Amino acid sequence: MGRNSLVVVHGQAHERLRSFVSNSINRPDALQLIAACVQPRLVSALHSWAQLGKFKAYKEIKKLTLQNIGKLFASLEPGPILDSLDKLYDGMLKGIRAYPLNFPGTASHHAIQCRKKLEAIFRVELEKKKKEEEQSNRVGTTNDLMDGLMQMIDEEGNQLSDQEVLDNIISLIIGGYESTTLASMWAIYYLAKYPDVLGKLREENLAMWKKKKGDFITIEDVSELKYTNKVVEETIRSANVSGFIFRLVTKEVEYKGYRIPKNWKVIIWLRYLHTNTENFEDPLCFNPERWNVPARPGTYLVFGGGPRICAGNMLARMQLAILLHHLSVGYKWELLNPDAKMIYLPNPAPADGAEIAFSKI
Ligand code: HEM
Ligand SMILES: *[C@@H]1O[C@H](CO)[C@@H](O)[C@H](O)[C@H]1NC(C)=O
Repeated sequence: MGRNSLVVVHGQAHERLRSFVSNSINRPDALQLIAACVQPRLVSALHSWAQLGKFKAYKEIKKLTLQNIGKLFASLEPGPILDSLDKLYDGMLKGIRAYPLNFPGTASHHAIQCRKKLEAIFRVELEKKKKEEEQSNRVGTTNDLMDGLMQMIDEEGNQLSDQEVLDNIISLIIGGYESTTLASMWAIYYLAKYPDVLGKLREENLAMWKKKKGDFITIEDVSELKYTNKVVEETIRSANVSGFIFRLVTKEVEYKGYRIPKNWKVIIWLRYLHTNTENFEDPLCFNPERWNVPARPGTYLVFGGGPRICAGNMLARMQLAILLHHLSVGYKWELLNPDAKMIYLPNPAPADGAEIAFSKI
């Protein structure tokens, strides 16, 4: 991730970066702008999917997600740069959980090479931004997340170094890219398997669509879509997007009769919590109605918890809700291989990439 990434740094530096990132991508004002920015792309992507007719949901969603992230985070438009980012992030992702052997031929080595190339690409973008600022004599010419990072100032009046900006932009994209793609793919998958859920979703969203006379929805509209938000929650719970998180033990603790020494690492096995019958009734059933009642504290940690809880949790939820709105109002689809085998590495997914037949209603 890089030594300066917000997922790595601690204490004040962490707090500072986090509060900046949350303000830029996870709070209502920012989400309002993001909602407006992502919908034209989404609507045109769905339109092109209907023309394709048959495709792997994973692959197409991933393209769309990168286009949105590229635009929001670094003002990148579709083209050769985004295509290389896609390949490089893929290589990096495959190495993140691999055994850390750094010599040619290993996943870890490949990931490190990809990371270097990513850094080179963003360094060019960074220099471009600096030049544009100089020429226009204005700070922040594009107002994307990277611009914001470049202008962040700490209590002592210092700006982030170039390396800090690069480490963070690279890891923020890692944080948002695959996770959003997987959650979206699983939403499409589950809705194909659970037609009554899709029926109810469609009813709620058609009513909204009529009310809006077909206009794009806003963050206030999203909060009114009660059933849709339950489908969002149920998708994230069921899809095991983040299987586990780590914590370092900073002070010896006792847990259920076990002594856990200082400096040990503890894995919190999130997906066990979410599929444990003590926490969720019939946990493998996709049932949005279970969210009529909120989960008991400590049983639902899809986004982790505490000061390091996912910095994009509200963004992820909103993007899913917006996708569900446009999908359910205008389209129908079927899984081509409803019994496809599942793969579990690096993340759970149907082995066929959720191939679907897709058309306008
Ligand atoms: C459904 C989608 C997503 C899921 C399930 C998810 C899940 C998680 C989890 C479990 C963590 C670890 C939290 C912890 O250790 O307590 C995390 C951290 C993080 N996520 Fe997400 N995430 C998602 C989407 C996103 C998006 C869209 C972004 C946007 C950039 C993002 C950015 C981050 C960042 C920056 C961190 C590190 C936070 C820190 O260390 O302070 N995530 N996420
Ligand atoms: C989520 O994890 C549970 C096990 O904890 C598993 O039974 C279930 O099949 C997983 N779901 C997906 C979509 O991988």
